[in-house]
Amino acid sequence: MDRTHVVLPAGEIDRQREFTRRAAALLRQRGRRILAMVDTYGCQQNVADSQRIMGMLREMGCGFTRDPGQADVIVINTCAIRENAEKKVFGVVGQLVHVKENNPDAIICLCGCMAQQEAVARKVRQSYRHVDLVFGPQALWKFPELLYEVCAGRRRVFSIADEHGTIAEGLPVVRESGVKAWVSIMYGCNNFCSYCIVPYVRGRERSRNPADILAEIRQLAEAGCREITLLGQNVNSYGKDLDEPMDFAGLLEEIDRIPGEYLIRFMTSHPKDADRRLFDVMAKSAHVARQLHLPVQSGSSRVLKAMNRGYTREQYLEKVRYARQVMPDLVLTSDIIIGFPGETEEEAMETVSLIEEVRYDALFTFIYSPRPGTPAAQMPDPVSRAEKQVWFDKLLDAQNRISGELHREYVGKRLTVLVDGESGDPQWPLSGRTHGGRLVHLRGEASLIGRYAEVNITGSNTWALFGEL
Ligand code: SAH
Ligand code: SF4
Ligand code: F3S
Repeated sequence: MDRTHVVLPAGEIDRQREFTRRAAALLRQRGRRILAMVDTYGCQQNVADSQRIMGMLREMGCGFTRDPGQADVIVINTCAIRENAEKKVFGVVGQLVHVKENNPDAIICLCGCMAQQEAVARKVRQSYRHVDLVFGPQALWKFPELLYEVCAGRRRVFSIADEHGTIAEGLPVVRESGVKAWVSIMYGCNNFCSYCIVPYVRGRERSRNPADILAEIRQLAEAGCREITLLGQNVNSYGKDLDEPMDFAGLLEEIDRIPGEYLIRFMTSHPKDADRRLFDVMAKSAHVARQLHLPVQSGSSRVLKAMNRGYTREQYLEKVRYARQVMPDLVLTSDIIIGFPGETEEEAMETVSLIEEVRYDALFTFIYSPRPGTPAAQMPDPVSRAEKQVWFDKLLDAQNRISGELHREYVGKRLTVLVDGESGDPQWPLSGRTHGGRLVHLRGEASLIGRYAEVNITGSNTWALFGEL
């Protein structure tokens, strides 16, 4: 699709500002301080989207609350990646019927990846009549207009048209802290891994213009932001749709030139497109963290083919070897799916042997969940859930042992740690992250938050490190 149809003209965003003003005027008529609650499920992309939604709500004059009973506007930003995620959301949305009984003026909105699915929208239309507004990720930028329509017409609004997707620049944002920020560099996904719903709900791959990304990062660095995570379903496809010649490694090089004391992380990197040039650029950059989330999904080349991942076990291992050769201190993490349709025990154990070989610092592990409309959901899936659970537990046992061993190797070392928040645990009141992204529990004063500290690592467990300043 033509870029001129992808990047929204500034006039469209201005139009939304006008709806923001009109919605604000309607909400003001309620004669009290309007509070909004935004509840977010799913991945960092959704977290970033929610920060935009909060930005738009703030411009409508809303304050924020975590208590749905106090809220005039409730936004549930949903995830469709696995069935469990969807069930949880339906539970939460069901409960909101009581909120609506107590406060009939409350506006209840369902957005995100679940909302983009027609079957979900139908179910909400019929059985969750207290939900006022349903919109998918493609319509996020239109939120002011949609909310205004609900406020003005007191009618239900559904905006879930299946679209290619656009890029909206200049939306307001509420960031959770001054220390860390998410920056989307692209949207959508074209990979169509056979198990995955994302390409169906997030639209086609589209890259933001480099100039817009660089301006945002420059601004964050100047404001003292310490950790910036670049987001995309597959950041390694960045630039393929741009008119100017630019790829992800090139973008990282440009970002790296921006002065300041900050770290760049990114996710997710698809192994199929992760090449030596990317690893070389990471290795010689000043700001890019030596951290790589490179989801392998399976250690069996047969299963990888059925998943439509576009690489074999050997090709994956070769990439890891090269990345570690140029970055010996690289922290490596991955996602794994156990129990893909037709996977045998032997193949699942190939995944266990792969993680033994790679020795990841941490893993995100999932049991396969069929997603309606995806090719994998049509494949024969004879293995019982109980058997998959046995394989899954073997994988977890192996990874927990590996993470524990790798974390123990940190003890006695001195590391630079970004202190990023309070933990709530009086024993270890602060939390931080190493350059490689490992979690560190710390003792110290809250005034350290937002600073890099030199920390002696004194202890560790499977999930985290413990340290003293
Ligand atoms: N774009 C990213 C993944 C985003 S989804 C990538 O390609 O790496 C995050 C993770 O959820 C995936 O890596 C995968 O491990 C898991 N996942 C996706 N669909 C799933 C499904 N149907 N069942 C179980 N896990 C799934
Ligand atoms: Fe899903 Fe594959 Fe796209 Fe990741 S790359 S979002 S797993 S289709
Ligand atoms: Fe979930 Fe959508 Fe992210 S399905 S994992 S919130 S892209």
